[in-house]
Amino acid sequence: MGPMTREVAEVPVEATFALRKQLLRSDRADLGLRMPDDDLPGAFHLAVFDGTGEAVGVATCTPSNPEFDARQPAYRLRQMAVHPDYQGQRVGSALFAAALSRLRAQRVATLWAESRDTSLGFYTAHGMRAVPERHHTVRGVAYTDVVLDLG
Ligand SMILES: CC(C)(COP(=O)(O)OP(=O)(O)OC[C@H]1O[C@@H](n2cnc3c(N)ncnc32)[C@H](O)[C@@H]1OP(=O)(O)O)[C@@H](O)C(=O)NCCC(=O)NCCS
Repeated sequence: MGPMTREVAEVPVEATFALRKQLLRSDRADLGLRMPDDDLPGAFHLAVFDGTGEAVGVATCTPSNPEFDARQPAYRLRQMAVHPDYQGQRVGSALFAAALSRLRAQRVATLWAESRDTSLGFYTAHGMRAVPERHHTVRGVAYTDVVLDLG
């Protein structure tokens, strides 16, 4: 892996699969690499690449209403993953900012996510807040819903 630029590109979903597999499937082997809502109309996938063209960070946004009260239209941010060698270098922040600017341009009212509790600090650092009473655990992985009102 080489240097990366933090430029964010919109990519086909398949470009996210290697990082999904490496970062998000070791403890969730019940999930396939392709998620049921990956191909929904309006869904989009983002990636940051290193100098050799390998994806070092990915994220997906899908139109999705949460199970808690939220203004519509709402989008879900999911399947965020940054290669371990590149974590803590603002790749995730670049992906988050790119998602937000696309969603604001589309007049999306709410962004939400099911945050792994181990990543909660990333989402709250970007202004998302934990939704009260919205915690669950699947196969030993604890999640908390987080939300951001886009105004
Ligand atoms: C969570 C993840 C996407 C963040 O990407 P990243 O590129 O490492 O994050 P950034 O460098 O942009 O971090 C931005 C801010 O979030 C904070 N942050 C990042 N990861 C965090 C974590 N796991 N826990 C708490 N805070 C975190 C950073 O401290 C940073 O804040 P600061 O620099 O102002 O102090 C990445 O660590 C990752 O892929 N983790 C493993 C897979 C995963 O859990 N994905 C999320 C599933 S919900």
